[in-house]
Amino acid sequence: MEKGNECSTHGGLQQMNKHLSSGSTRVIPSTETGLQQASELIRSGETVAFPTETVYGLGANALDAQAVNKIFQAKGRPGDNPLIIHICSREQLSLVASEVPDEAVKLIDEFWPGPLTLILPKQPGVPLETTGGLQTVAVRFPAHPIAIELIKMCGVPLAAPSANRSGKPSPTSAGHVLEDLQGRIAGVIDGGFCKVGVESSVLDLTVSPPALLRPGAVTAEQISAVLGVNIMAGGGVSNQDGPKAPGMKYAHYAPNGELYLVGHGQAEVETIKQLVRQDQAKGFKVGVLATAETAGLYEADVILACGRRDQLDTIAQGLYPALREFDKLGAQRIYAETYPTEGIGLAIMNRLTKPAGGKRLG
Ligand code: TXA
Ligand code: MG
Repeated sequence: MEKGNECSTHGGLQQMNKHLSSGSTRVIPSTETGLQQASELIRSGETVAFPTETVYGLGANALDAQAVNKIFQAKGRPGDNPLIIHICSREQLSLVASEVPDEAVKLIDEFWPGPLTLILPKQPGVPLETTGGLQTVAVRFPAHPIAIELIKMCGVPLAAPSANRSGKPSPTSAGHVLEDLQGRIAGVIDGGFCKVGVESSVLDLTVSPPALLRPGAVTAEQISAVLGVNIMAGGGVSNQDGPKAPGMKYAHYAPNGELYLVGHGQAEVETIKQLVRQDQAKGFKVGVLATAETAGLYEADVILACGRRDQLDTIAQGLYPALREFDKLGAQRIYAETYPTEGIGLAIMNRLTKPAGGKRLG
């Protein structure tokens, strides 16, 4: 994956902010002065949202239990759902993780900075509030210059879950952060749209073989190639050992409308068209989550192309904005095309399957 600046910039937010009540949340420009302001807020125990290459995170000092509690309050997040700690150098890893096995070193060499979170044994100095009571810690070194600069200026690792209200799709722009958290957090740094669009891959290295708890842009295939073992997706909640990725037991990424996954191909396009007609006849406002290739084939109340099927990266980028848009436009039923579960496709299908709650028609 390309490293360096992984967020595109846009000028729309200032315009948009004129229409939003200012609340007590500051919109902070991603300038040197802006980042100084943001780091002062964080050092004084406040929460500030910032861009990463995946999605926006809601940051606070990971080593300050009180500051971390503000993250849980702002998001409405259950206290046993642990946070990812963001670092800005390899040296910082030893502040939060007590052991760094060889497997971790290999993966770090290959994928950091980047969208890969590693679960490792935690350092005693990391408060249990940050890890949701676990003796393990999730760590990642993000590949976004604003995130890296901010962490450097703060001088401490930042705990940062996705900066959405619990149960909403992760935000991929500062505007999305404000939609969910306006007035509930001290500030948001405007860094434009996030390039990846879905959250980091989460790999548990405290079990053998390592378990991919959440697929992301660093793919199962890439991780398997580096480790020389076949890494399968689907850690999730384990019955015997207790929750493995505690976040997975909570509802996530849910649009207000009912979401159905239909499949993809000519026959499925016809199926979707028929389902839309049936639902419209019943009086529903119906949406279709399509691609650039197929959007023109449908007739529905809301048709959104989240990206190009021949470039799955663009589907990942456009997925959460599309789910938010369906809510804004009041879609009551949404029919979605599906994607092959290879490469980033696995992460896309993971994020679509959860809100669909198993409602698969194809
Ligand atoms: O891309 C991302 O990872 C974004 C950006 C902001 O970095 N962050 C993010 O954080 O998605 P969050 O909190 O929304 O998701 C973190 C996931 C949750 O499912 C959580 O349960 C899991 O990682 N997790 C965190 N610490 C863990 C641990 N010690 N053991 C197992 N799972 C853990
Ligand atoms: Mg999240």
